Amino acid sequence: MNQEQLESFLCEALETERGGVQIYEAALECAENEELKDEWEEYLEQTREHVDILQNVCKQLGIDTEQETTGSQIVRATAQALLRNMQVARESGDSTLAQIVAAEAVSHAELKDHLNWQLIGLVSKEAEKGDRVGEVLQEAYEQVEDQEEEHVFHNQGWARELWAECLGMEAVFPPPEEKLGIKVPKKAESEVLKQRSKQQES
Ligand SMILES: [Fe+2]
Repeated sequence: MNQEQLESFLCEALETERGGVQIYEAALECAENEELKDEWEEYLEQTREHVDILQNVCKQLGIDTEQETTGSQIVRATAQALLRNMQVARESGDSTLAQIVAAEAVSHAELKDHLNWQLIGLVSKEAEKGDRVGEVLQEAYEQVEDQEEEHVFHNQGWARELWAECLGMEAVFPPPEEKLGIKVPKKAESEVLKQRSKQQES
């Protein structure tokens, strides 16, 4: 494992969660659908917890959480762009558009967040038994992995259905993803991991 790179990566992951909090706060200002508001309130709370969890991970591993890395600067710039998009949409006075732009913004942000946590899971599995980094990351990963699957999967459902409604199609609210929970992404992920091990072995 490249320790220096792992340290910058964890700073980037923390910055992603910090940006996520701001993005959910702004998205809630754009939300009109009551069920969507409830879901985003819940995801905002969970994202705040993810910030604490990653801060704690960094503390345990002796990583300075305030250090500026190129990666964390880029993550922040992306979050600022998404915040700006929501602001522009709100200022246009078109509330339908603002809600869609917000759903897309959280979907964008959660994609990166999900990737980070997938990698944290991989690093923890790759670490040798008894390795402190592996243990710390594994504990954090177990606390958030299901929530991250849900955030990315459900938000994509909301973005699609809000668009469908806006395009004049019959939309399904809440999106069917809500009934599926995280069954679909979990199945896909376990297939990917199986395939990944197979290809590593060959
Ligand atoms: Fe998160």
